[in-house]
Amino acid sequence: MSAQCNVVVLISGSGSNLQALIDSIAHDGNPARVSAVISNRADAYGLERAKQAGIATAVLDHKQFEGREAFDAALVEAIDAFEPQLVVLAGFMRILTPGFVRHYAGRLLNIHPSLLPKYKGLHTHQRALEAGDSEHGCSVHFVTEELDGGPLVVQAVIPVRANDTLDSLAQQVHRQEHVIYPLAVRWFAEGRLRLDAQGAMLDGQPLPSSGHLIRT
Ligand code: GAR
Repeated sequence: MSAQCNVVVLISGSGSNLQALIDSIAHDGNPARVSAVISNRADAYGLERAKQAGIATAVLDHKQFEGREAFDAALVEAIDAFEPQLVVLAGFMRILTPGFVRHYAGRLLNIHPSLLPKYKGLHTHQRALEAGDSEHGCSVHFVTEELDGGPLVVQAVIPVRANDTLDSLAQQVHRQEHVIYPLAVRWFAEGRLRLDAQGAMLDGQPLPSSGHLIRT
């Protein structure tokens, strides 16, 4: 990996994970650089965060396109203009086409608010609470064509306590997301993390199927 690793971040909303990435890169020799932030929503607060950090932004409104293929083709063009080594989905609430995912194979990461493979899709905190789970958390994974199904890189596990609510769980999970996403991005930027035929590899060794586990 070159000295610097250009990262394009895709968002749809608040961008607190984007903020955590920006903050983690600000110091101590992290080779990752956020070169652009692209949102499918013009009102995403993450765009403000990017501007405040002096990062280029673009908005691509999916409603202006005739279907997923056309939107994703335009998105690829917008992203590739920044020549990223890594593309990071940070609360980007769009299902991506197989063509898009293949184009970025091995250099597309996502964060998801559950301990995958549990609770793919939406309402993950509610589903964990309703199931009476004793543990919940979040996952960073390489994106493949299977929704929320690619090889896991790192998971943070939190205990679910009897008095936890939807809000308290969401807050705790968010806090952990802000730890594990910068970690995974840094590993990638340093050339330590990659995807090969065996799955996700860290320092040349296959990661366990759960990814690297962090317990709080
Ligand atoms: C995060 O909790 C992330 O895990 C989730 O969206 C939130 C974005 O928060 N992503 C998904 O659910 C993707 N399936 P943020 O905008 O504050 O970073």
